[in-house]
Amino acid sequence: MLQARCHKIRLRQFPDGESLVRVDTADAVDAVVVRSLDNPDAKLVPTLLAADALRRAGVRNITLVAPYLPYMRQDKVFATGQPISQRVIGDILGRYFDRVVTVEAHLHRIRELAEVVPSRLKSQSLSAAPAIANWLRARDAECIIVGPDRESRPWVEAIAKASGYDYIVGDKKRRGDRAVSVELGDVPNHRRALIVDDIASSGVTLAAAARALRARGVRTIEAVVVHAIFAPGALSIIRGAGIRKLFSCDTIAHRTNAISVAPIIAEALR
Ligand code: R5P
Repeated sequence: MLQARCHKIRLRQFPDGESLVRVDTADAVDAVVVRSLDNPDAKLVPTLLAADALRRAGVRNITLVAPYLPYMRQDKVFATGQPISQRVIGDILGRYFDRVVTVEAHLHRIRELAEVVPSRLKSQSLSAAPAIANWLRARDAECIIVGPDRESRPWVEAIAKASGYDYIVGDKKRRGDRAVSVELGDVPNHRRALIVDDIASSGVTLAAAARALRARGVRTIEAVVVHAIFAPGALSIIRGAGIRKLFSCDTIAHRTNAISVAPIIAEALR
């Protein structure tokens, strides 16, 4: 798509667990590091080391493409004594990279990624809504689109408008990592529902939304998420709640990947 040269960053681990990276820049002036940052605590350090290695090798513009950007959900002090992790991680990435490009970062309390990633060039979170809407249109299976919480409204609405389907949004309450309830209003005349969410981690949000749909008489429930984190046990929780089919964007490699975000990333880099 971009006709760019591609080099692998070599990575090795010392016996004590520290990482060592080695880059081959071939005298490039611009470089794009592509690294999805699921499993973040293991991947962040080598990613920062790669940026430093590129800079020292003479690269002037270094962009990080992290299709999944972690720590964005920890966006306020939820309980006394906690950090605002979103700011910490955004700040570090903004110091080492000239620009960060990601997909559907969890930015519920701020308008744009640049507010937490103070990079030299403007960092961007790209919407996955057009890619999901295209996939839905091609699939051509009549359904109602369901967002599990109020925060999801703007992009659920964008997907619904672009694909031509109706949508509803639930009222979600989280009482703990794995304790979530979702309340839904009427589900007008629909037998098939598609839950859409930005992230599936423990799976309890999708499961709670599916239970609420079943209580409203919906028989066929499917789900699509952008970031397929799926922590251990998540898939059985999701299936156990009656979700028949599960799809995801390919921001994190997973067997549910059905929607490619490569075109929207390539377009942003062009
Ligand atoms: C929360 O606001 C997000 O949009 C997701 O609904 C949430 O992160 C999903 O996490 P889990 O699968 O653990 O419920």
